[in-house]
Amino acid sequence: MRKPFIAGNWKMNLDRAGAVALAKELAAAVPADGPVQVAICPPAVYLDAVREAIAGSAVELGAQNMYHEASGAFTGETSAAMLQDVGCQWVILGHSERRHVLGETDADINRKVHAALAAGLPPIVCVGETLDEREAGRTQEVVRSQCDGSLAGLTEEQMAKVVIAYEPVWAIGTGKVATPAQAEEVHNDLRKYFENRYNHALAEGVRIQYGGSVKPDNAKELLSQPNIDGALVGGAALKADSFLGIIAGA
Ligand code: PGA
Repeated sequence: MRKPFIAGNWKMNLDRAGAVALAKELAAAVPADGPVQVAICPPAVYLDAVREAIAGSAVELGAQNMYHEASGAFTGETSAAMLQDVGCQWVILGHSERRHVLGETDADINRKVHAALAAGLPPIVCVGETLDEREAGRTQEVVRSQCDGSLAGLTEEQMAKVVIAYEPVWAIGTGKVATPAQAEEVHNDLRKYFENRYNHALAEGVRIQYGGSVKPDNAKELLSQPNIDGALVGGAALKADSFLGIIAGA
């Protein structure tokens, strides 16, 4: 049984006071030992403040990115150990904005995935096709190739710690949500991919979140699909009531 996992990706939004206030509201509302696992991923500079705001609650902390090296002369970068030092339990890797705006390749993401796992920091690895790729009928090929590249060289034991987020690029921040059937088709194909690449038990255990314009009013239907195990939420994670509405939908 895969526990639903809802993660909020705050991206480059909020200020320190807003981040702390939102974190406190969520910490007070998310029940301990509830049926849904919940994490929030604030901007890196607010991780420490948000950790304090959610201390002792069921809300977990994640980062939005990291660098693959452990330490050294890498100006502006943050290592897995540094993220753990400020309380991170998760790190999002390969988000479509990192891929398409910041130019990260599957090889870059793969190095980060290995570094995160080596440090004991489980990643949420994002994959997803653009609108052009979908319209050209290439969704399956693109998503599988992103998995091949970003998850290259992972043992079964390592893969069991990874969470996948399927986020069609055309649905992110656009208000255009994939239909439950469109999303389920890709999630189901991903599970087959993991079955072929590893085995049935691994494929049945790996959690695959959907991301892209998830809102309280569409969360329940998306999350009721057999192969959708949670959501990675952007815009709707910036307000407590909408994020809690999505958690309730799960
Ligand atoms: P959105 O973003 O919910 O605002 O579409 C999702 C994401 O980028 O993870």
